[in-house]
Amino acid sequence: MTFRLRLTLAVYIFICCVTIHLFFKDNKAEMDSDAMDNGQKSELRYTWRRNGSAVTGAPFHLDMELMRKKGFKELPLKTFAKDLNDENWENIDFTFMTGSSANHFQESRDAVASIQKFFPDKHILYYDWGLYSRQVEEVKSWCSVEYRKMVLDDFAVVKDLNHSMPFVIYAAKIISINHALQDFDGVFWLDASVRFIGGDLRPIFKKASENGGLVFISRQFHSSYSVTHPKTYEYLPTDKDQLKRLKQVEAMYFIYKSEKIYQNVAWWLLLCALEKECVSPSLNLKCSFPLKEYMNTYVGCHRYDQAAVNILAANHFDYDDSRYYVCMGRQGHNTILIRRRTTKMYDVQMCTE
Ligand SMILES: *[C@@H]1O[C@H](CO)[C@@H](O)[C@H](O)[C@H]1NC(C)=O
Ligand SMILES: *[C@@H]1O[C@H](CO)[C@@H](O)[C@H](O)[C@H]1NC(C)=O
Repeated sequence: MTFRLRLTLAVYIFICCVTIHLFFKDNKAEMDSDAMDNGQKSELRYTWRRNGSAVTGAPFHLDMELMRKKGFKELPLKTFAKDLNDENWENIDFTFMTGSSANHFQESRDAVASIQKFFPDKHILYYDWGLYSRQVEEVKSWCSVEYRKMVLDDFAVVKDLNHSMPFVIYAAKIISINHALQDFDGVFWLDASVRFIGGDLRPIFKKASENGGLVFISRQFHSSYSVTHPKTYEYLPTDKDQLKRLKQVEAMYFIYKSEKIYQNVAWWLLLCALEKECVSPSLNLKCSFPLKEYMNTYVGCHRYDQAAVNILAANHFDYDDSRYYVCMGRQGHNTILIRRRTTKMYDVQMCTE
């Protein structure tokens, strides 16, 4: 081969390599900018990691424009609360919180009255998901209560549910908790069925300061696996065999805006609540256990936000519920009762002039 031929070949090879390099480089840049154009969509998937392997769930959808209209300034949140210290829990920036549609209003009155009784100086948030105007007037007259209206009609999940009750309420609850977390470091969510019979919350705040800030206070007799529609796992993957071991914690909890709890639980809970197939894949609310088998068999019903938060908590705490559950009921610290009906244990305190 002559020197000239060798030189020509070398030049060709060089040009080829540069071209191939540029081609792939361009392609990669294009892929990257595509991913950006698709916005957060491509990133809105929950990844469950365990034993060095990772499973990623189906994509969630976030309509940021709508969320802004609903009062969400930034999603996901990027500023978090400082570490929790159980010595000073009474001074931390937390609020009690509940909410109701018109049909559970009567039950919620005694829940609020029991908070006022044992925590007379604490702030209580009350979210209105469709109260009648006379009910609104009443809520606004209660001491320590801040009334907030959350109109549900234009959320996609509510449309996909044909606005049917009570299903939209389960989504509304999670949306509202996340809404409140913007303004408070901690939120203590209580369903209309809770009644305080004591005022010592130290066991809750002790656990919260140990675990980053997520504590459940009451538990079911069956597993979460038995009352979770399989579709929910497509969005929130988990180890179902581990879920069969754990009794389902009820969706009443203290949640603190630490980076860990927000990024592993609260944020994904919100995305799940905004997706009908994640939060409400079945409209069968009635769970029955004809075989008296409470842990290992799916019985065909679904428990909505409770199903979702049980998966996220179990995953985050590696299936060790002693890390996120303290019994505040009769068998434990005897601080709360659950009453799924209207009661009048206490008089609600009124403060309107
Ligand atoms: C993960 O590892 C633990 C401990 O090594 C083991 O008990 C468990 O079965 C593993 N889980 C999975 C899903 O592989
Ligand atoms: C909502 O209504 C549509 C049309 O009637 C129906 O196909 C769909 O199954 C309904 N969805 C729910 C969740 O009820």
